[in-house]
Amino acid sequence: MVYKLAPSLLAADFGIIKEQLAKLDEAKVPYLHLDIMDGVFVPNLSFGLAVVESIRKYTKMVFDVHLMIIEPERYVEQFAKAGTDIFCFHIEATKDAKATVDKIKKCGMKAAIAVKPATPISEIKDLLGELDMVLVMTVEPGFGGQKFMEDQMEKVKELVKLREENNYKYDIEVDGGVNPETIKTCFASGANVIVAGSAVLGAKDISARVEEFAQIAKEYNI
Ligand code: DX5
Ligand code: ZN
Repeated sequence: MVYKLAPSLLAADFGIIKEQLAKLDEAKVPYLHLDIMDGVFVPNLSFGLAVVESIRKYTKMVFDVHLMIIEPERYVEQFAKAGTDIFCFHIEATKDAKATVDKIKKCGMKAAIAVKPATPISEIKDLLGELDMVLVMTVEPGFGGQKFMEDQMEKVKELVKLREENNYKYDIEVDGGVNPETIKTCFASGANVIVAGSAVLGAKDISARVEEFAQIAKEYNI
């Protein structure tokens, strides 16, 4: 699988968002992770469609949109129109995950499902063959800057095994608490898409941090 870094916009300084995006582009970052929060599915609020749409014109990065909202199926078309490439919703937030995946694909986006720390992979087993990516939360969703939950690596390993056994194609993404130390555990367990908020956008030198992560990926042959 191919290593992709997905810095989380949540950790950006929104007052200078254009410059922040330019820095990520300069560092040749492939994905931008956008955390959408509704204050219901998670206790926090972030930003919505208007922000996604308005920053779309400033960068060509793949928009990896992580919806932490209830009934995400309500907004599939609108996020597609706003320029979303990957639509990632929480299995805990919808009553009909299969219909949501179908809708996402019909709208021309890649489909991904996220699981909270307490949710086992068995909850999404039937859909794995249809997914482009699975997101394993390594913190309780809602806030940046939390501590990485090492025990979630069991789920990453389980996903690797299921992919091998069934010839599935999904990427494995991890999100929350990733830093130059914890990223090693992620690679060793088999994750290849790495979300990092504070560790990248909060770094003094963004390019140096991006390069540091890329070097570690190389060491793990990812
Ligand atoms: C948490 C979000 C994360 C968050 C990660 O709910 O899904 O994407 O921005 O931030 P860090 O990398 O600082 O833990
Ligand atoms: Zn996220």
